[in-house]
Amino acid sequence: MVDDTARTWVFACKVEDIRLQDVRRWEFDGHSYAIFRSPKGEIFVTDDICTHEHAHLSDGYVEGHTVECPRHSGRFSYMTGKALGAPVCINLRTYEVRIEDGAVTVLVPRRA
Ligand code: FES
Repeated sequence: MVDDTARTWVFACKVEDIRLQDVRRWEFDGHSYAIFRSPKGEIFVTDDICTHEHAHLSDGYVEGHTVECPRHSGRFSYMTGKALGAPVCINLRTYEVRIEDGAVTVLVPRRA
């Protein structure tokens, strides 16, 4: 069971700030998130730092519903966070998203 008192909804950006099939970095509360817009316009949010080594996935290459890490070309599904093969084997954390009037709001942990 998830403790909702430990999380909060935070405005991140406007949908129109992200092109189709692209990604944008969002820094909040000392943490880096990657906000993806799929080819059909859906929005997904994951951690921005690769689970293999330190690289920003928001600097990576987005194709379809996957992102390729810019450092060693590991690939993830940005929809589910699933690691899709070597060298990445640890899934990415994903975050719930709400879209209202074109605003992207993300449910993030409260970080002390
Ligand atoms: S740092 Fe991302 S695949 Fe190695």
